[in-house]
Amino acid sequence: MPFDFGALGRHPDIEGPGLEASDAADRLLLDEANERAAASPLGPAPDEIVVVDDAYGAIALGAAERFGASAARPIRVHQDLVTGERALAENAGRLALADEVVSMPFAPELVAGARLVLVRLPRSLDRLDEVAGLVARHAASDVAIVAGGRLKHMSLAMNEVLGRHFGRVDVSLARQKSRVLTASEPTPAARTAAPAWPRRERHEAEDLEVVAHGGVFAGSGIDIGTRFLLQHLGEAMPDASTAVDLACGSGVVATRLARTRPGMRVVATDRSAAAAASARLTAEANGVAERVHVTRADGLEGLADASERFIVLNPPFHSDAAISTGIAAHLFADAARVLAPGGELWCVWNSHLRYRPLLERTVGPTRQIARNPKFTITASVREA
Ligand SMILES: C[S@@+](CC[C@H](N)C(=O)[O-])C[C@H]1O[C@@H](n2cnc3c(N)ncnc32)[C@H](O)[C@@H]1O
Repeated sequence: MPFDFGALGRHPDIEGPGLEASDAADRLLLDEANERAAASPLGPAPDEIVVVDDAYGAIALGAAERFGASAARPIRVHQDLVTGERALAENAGRLALADEVVSMPFAPELVAGARLVLVRLPRSLDRLDEVAGLVARHAASDVAIVAGGRLKHMSLAMNEVLGRHFGRVDVSLARQKSRVLTASEPTPAARTAAPAWPRRERHEAEDLEVVAHGGVFAGSGIDIGTRFLLQHLGEAMPDASTAVDLACGSGVVATRLARTRPGMRVVATDRSAAAAASARLTAEANGVAERVHVTRADGLEGLADASERFIVLNPPFHSDAAISTGIAAHLFADAARVLAPGGELWCVWNSHLRYRPLLERTVGPTRQIARNPKFTITASVREA
């Protein structure tokens, strides 16, 4: 019986009409992986298969079924987003495949000895570079990466990135607006190369060293909106002994707060594993790791209601303003829940998004801290 993609859900990510838990690229990727395995008399055993950046579990669970994974020989999986990892666990439970997949951190053990690595192509070339580098260094010498995505999100630069690490890159025919790239024959240089990630960059003006894994927002740079926020963080900031850097990315804001406010403890959270790992490294590089506590979390889960007096947020944005607003609304609501009466949410946003009415409604009275031609910084006070 073919794998039942329709049984998969996206929860805890947003669900709704038109939002699917799998797509044509996932199915093409599985078909290409199957063909490749069938073509070789000694195809990979299930525990030689690894899945990276699957959205909700379609690839990992589809592969677990097709390749006969078991509790003794599970498929290894890493997903950058904690929400994706939870969706996989829920879907695996529903399909009675919970023991056939195992979620692991992004580290050499994830791919050690692997012969087939199925990758949902990330948008970020840096992320692809870090994944390809890890595989080339630590997987078996006959490993192949089978990486699939939607044509509209793919570029020739992806072939070039894979070509940095692998001697051979094959391109599938397109099917239902999707395509698969297969990289094999890791080069001797790539197998012995020092890891290119995480990267470090010193920013004199901000007196910060930023450390970032591939694909983290702004990389080892500092985004211009964040830079603007840092310039104004000292002004009329609430008098709090703790702060929260919500959606912390590489941890620039959390680290800067800890650096400029001796004694202040900062909680930094992000739903991306690469971001959380980077934020830890950034705090460490600037000597404030003992006061910056980083967690990989969806919004502010884990923080109690009405427990904090100061939250800082540079919300994620998307080319589609409606999607940006949806994600921002979720994070504003979480901030409103966690702020104690009188506590403040400081937020930097692209002025064209006009978040002020939403902040007023969700959190409370909102004043402008600063504005330039592109960005607005506001402080919203939680009412009693
Ligand atoms: C615009 S970046 C800001 C990063 C950092 N604060 C800075 O200014 O450089 C937004 C961040 O939001 C994170 N994010 C998106 N949705 C999230 C969620 N539901 N919970 C936690 N973090 C989230 C993304 O992973 C990304 O790192």
